[in-house]
Amino acid sequence: MKITIFGTGYVGLVTGTCLADVGHDVLCVDVDAEKIARLEAGEIPIFEPGLEPMVKANVEAGRLRFTTDPQAAVAFGTLQFIAVGTPPDEDGSADLTYVLAVAETIGTHMAEYKVIVDKSTVPVGTADRVRERVAAALQARGEAIDFDVCSNPEFLKEGAAIEDFTHGARIIVGTESDHVKTLMRECYAPYIRLHDKLMFMDVRAAELTKYAANAMLATKISFMNEIANLAERLGADVEQVRRGIGSDPRIGYQFIYPGCGYGGSCFPKDVQALARTAGDVDYQAELLTAVEGVNRRQKRTLFTKLAQALGGELAGRTVALWGLAFKPNTDDMRDAPSRTLMEALWEAGARVQAYDPEAIKECRRLYGERDDLLLAGDRIQAVKGADALVICTEWKEFRSVDFAWLAQQLATPVVVDGRNLFEPEAVKAAGLRYFAVGRGDSLAESGAIPSP
Ligand code: UDX
Repeated sequence: MKITIFGTGYVGLVTGTCLADVGHDVLCVDVDAEKIARLEAGEIPIFEPGLEPMVKANVEAGRLRFTTDPQAAVAFGTLQFIAVGTPPDEDGSADLTYVLAVAETIGTHMAEYKVIVDKSTVPVGTADRVRERVAAALQARGEAIDFDVCSNPEFLKEGAAIEDFTHGARIIVGTESDHVKTLMRECYAPYIRLHDKLMFMDVRAAELTKYAANAMLATKISFMNEIANLAERLGADVEQVRRGIGSDPRIGYQFIYPGCGYGGSCFPKDVQALARTAGDVDYQAELLTAVEGVNRRQKRTLFTKLAQALGGELAGRTVALWGLAFKPNTDDMRDAPSRTLMEALWEAGARVQAYDPEAIKECRRLYGERDDLLLAGDRIQAVKGADALVICTEWKEFRSVDFAWLAQQLATPVVVDGRNLFEPEAVKAAGLRYFAVGRGDSLAESGAIPSP
């Protein structure tokens, strides 16, 4: 099948590459000429395990091509995927400028029937707006060419995007047209041979499913963080509570890990956008607003705990930070808890010595060179001469630590762990003061609240 993908960002590139890998002819188009030139040379602009060799192999096989030419792109595929960005507007709603610009491009250049597939995460009702925009562009040309618009939301986790694309729980297609169903079935046929996980539904239901899935997952996390904050005040260990509730299959073990708040390109943006959509139809989405509020507060707890453990004296201190990415196996720092922490520390006059296995370059891009930031080459360099250590991301290499060594390195033996990586007893036995998330006495010990 001939497939065009608009947008070579995270979603577009993974989608295009995976579809090429199962034998489709894919043309990816982007307005960024430099990016396209790099992709043609086999250079991947993002860090995603397994993607680079897959891009190279499919480019070599001639199944995956790149272009900046919109006319050629529209002429190419029967399926025209829109996978461009939908950044949040100032008020939190998704900005559809890029999505609608692609719709306009398609309407301007199409010469035969096309199926336009909304892959970007877009608010409910966007398919209608895409349809209107294509129709208007056709009308302006005096053409009446037939086309369909369907919704096919992505459910890709960064760091596991290829696995999620190839072995995802479901493939959702929102359409009422039998012809579109046939074409989309053909597109995904290699992935549903053994297990038919293609689900057809109404366009609006498909659009809402994407937001509902992310909002549900974000809710689980904020719920667990709320329980962790309660556990801290009640002298209970949230890790035991987590195991206790996770064993109930109705609750399950996934996405109930308390931590320093969720980040990334999806949860913060999607929860906000859905709350915003609710407002547009005069519905006050109280739960969504609370989920967001709990998360915002949770991201600040690392700083609060550290400040309290250090007696409020942060000016002139040096803080080691392990983990900058919003989660392991990515270099993405969008809405990462590490950023909330670093910015608060700088504001308070402290220095940061940060290490991350992948996100150093991204951190430099975001913050540039500054006197109060040392980007360390490894985790050991990050703690050298530091007062205290904060862990923001659960990278594998942080899981095993010689605590006696760590106690010697830190001027003030304080470890604030935003991901509950260690057994508190083991850390404390080395003479370190350990403040994790929701682990019984950690807050009381920092002096933040009285012992229960
Ligand atoms: C998410 C969804 O999982 C994916 O289906 C959707 O398409 C895009 O958004 P992603 O943003 O890549 O994917 O990250 P994910 O692995 O879901 O983690 C999101 C955030 O939640 C991270 O900051 C992570 O640290 C945090 N998290 C996750 C927790 O704090 N606790 C958990 O139990 C799980």
